[in-house]
Amino acid sequence: MLILNTIAAVRAAVSEVRAGGGSIGLVPTLGALHAGHLSLVRAAKAGNDAVVVSIFVNPTQFGPNEDFSRYPRTFEADCALLEPEGVDLVFAPAVEEIYPEGAATFVSVTGIEDRLDGKSRPGHFRGVATVVAKLFHIVAPDRAYFGQKDAAQVAVLRRMVRDLDIPVELAVCPIVREADGLALSSRNRYLSDEDRQRALVLSRALRRAEELYLAGTVSSNSLLDGARGVLASEPEVRIDYLAAVDPLTLEDLAEVGSGSLIAVAAWVGTTRLIDDVVLPPRLF
Ligand code: PAJ
Repeated sequence: MLILNTIAAVRAAVSEVRAGGGSIGLVPTLGALHAGHLSLVRAAKAGNDAVVVSIFVNPTQFGPNEDFSRYPRTFEADCALLEPEGVDLVFAPAVEEIYPEGAATFVSVTGIEDRLDGKSRPGHFRGVATVVAKLFHIVAPDRAYFGQKDAAQVAVLRRMVRDLDIPVELAVCPIVREADGLALSSRNRYLSDEDRQRALVLSRALRRAEELYLAGTVSSNSLLDGARGVLASEPEVRIDYLAAVDPLTLEDLAEVGSGSLIAVAAWVGTTRLIDDVVLPPRLF
């Protein structure tokens, strides 16, 4: 497994793969890898000749009062997880490699970037879109892999790829959960045992919304009231947003149907967690 830190070295390595007729799958990450990330790596491995994983704690997607400086950095452990998966290349640049002195160009996906997480974390999706656009230019992957866990991020990136004519196929992989329902997240390691227990209310609330939908509820208000009722059972958990939206535009829906996105973000202690569900087909 090749570990490279510079854009030039990555470009040289991927052009070799391309010259041999090989396809490339890219998995962008912030590191602190867990089984959720590895599910993306496995999908990339299955669908491409070569797999590139980027590990970069991207400063532009963190707000001034967010956890950029204390975000877990576990590079050695990350590589130890990636190597046995057959990853070909890890791209782990320094901040100055990605944002040289005077960097002034950003990608804004207007409208969508201000919804859901973008509303509570102003500038977050501008940072995400910018770094992912740069990674797409550097690696030029055939396919790039993202988790449904960050549903709003997927909406932003889909629109960016379409609007900027970037020749990459986005693959979205299902949310990997713990046995008790908690969606895996690098931020789960911030949780105390008590808070981890409280955090289960997010997936329970989403399950309730899904059950209500399958039982015939289509009014978003009724569905969200049901989910809010579940969230209220953990008064220590503070809702940031709970919404029923179109998965492509992130606009609120008055009525839900199959494919609608129900998304939640909440503070559990000092940790902000997100989770979501896409409503399944309903047979009657
Ligand atoms: P990060 O939070 O490290 O996540 C990297 C990828 O792993 C994202 O596509 C995310 O949706 C996916 N992922 C995280 N938890 C998951 C889970 N439980 N199940 C399935 N997939 C999961 O998202 C980012 O990094 C950054 O914003 C990035 C795209 C790398 C840009 O900096």
